[in-house]
Amino acid sequence: MPHFLDIHKTDAADLRHIIDHARTMKDARAGRPRGAADDDLPLDGRMVALIFEKPSTRTRISFDVGVRQMGGQTMVLSGADMQLGHGETIADTARVLSRYVDLIMIRTFDETVLTEMAEYADVPVINGLTDRTHPCQIMADVMTFEEHRGPIAGKRVVWSGDGNNVCASFLHAAGQFGFDMTFVGPEVLDPEPDFVGYARDKGVKVEIKRDLIPAVEGADLVVTDTWISMHQSQTARERRHNLLRPYQVDRHVMEAAGPQALFMHCLPAHRNEEATSEVMDGPQSVIFDEAENRLHAQKAIMRHCLGL
Ligand code: CP
Ligand code: NVA
Repeated sequence: MPHFLDIHKTDAADLRHIIDHARTMKDARAGRPRGAADDDLPLDGRMVALIFEKPSTRTRISFDVGVRQMGGQTMVLSGADMQLGHGETIADTARVLSRYVDLIMIRTFDETVLTEMAEYADVPVINGLTDRTHPCQIMADVMTFEEHRGPIAGKRVVWSGDGNNVCASFLHAAGQFGFDMTFVGPEVLDPEPDFVGYARDKGVKVEIKRDLIPAVEGADLVVTDTWISMHQSQTARERRHNLLRPYQVDRHVMEAAGPQALFMHCLPAHRNEEATSEVMDGPQSVIFDEAENRLHAQKAIMRHCLGL
């Protein structure tokens, strides 16, 4: 079953095809209204369940719009409103949903919910973010980088801040697409060793550094994310802010990186915390292209999963 659970679980050739296909589909829609259907309607007659156990703007809307553009229909569901949130097992939920829908996208907390859903579903399951990874985001980010700078293979990405779920999927992508990564942040927030080990085992260079300015010099891409993710408690807010303040991406950081460096943030952002508004709205920033490319990348992911 071709699920899309994580970037390291999908073949590198399939990942490349998804990115290229997303680009082709995006180009084919150029200039058309957002609500206009694609010329071919590959999801005609298909029903897609979009399940959210956490908030979402981009993931929710881009999946919903993407399915509709391809001629399919969606059901956007809150985990809390389903029996899933009231004690029904994931396995039973997966088996029941498989009798109604053709594809399941789920955003959840513990990644075992995702993997169990995939194990028991008879239809493909897509990871819309867990506490550990966010693969759809990084597919959009790779697509965005390549639109602006050409092939990402051989480039160097600097991640500044928390070694979180988005950082983890960047490390998976480094291994699969062949780019180097530098993580810069406080030691207690380092990415988990298995994510770093995965990329290194694939032969790319992964460095862990503590000082941001020297680390960004010559980078092709500087990326950061919120200092407190959805699954993290706000009670540790002050401690995390103190730890992460030296890793704010501001004008000096982007100047040290150089004019070739792009800036990315998956959004939502806390402006003037992890990155200044000057950088987010500055000439090196491609944050809204990233957001748009969620739509195109996920359409290609859904077609991959459904063999369409
Ligand atoms: N980047 C991202 O996944 O955004 P949402 O939380 O709004 O879906
Ligand atoms: N790291 C963030 C990403 C949000 C899209 C979170 O998990 O909240």
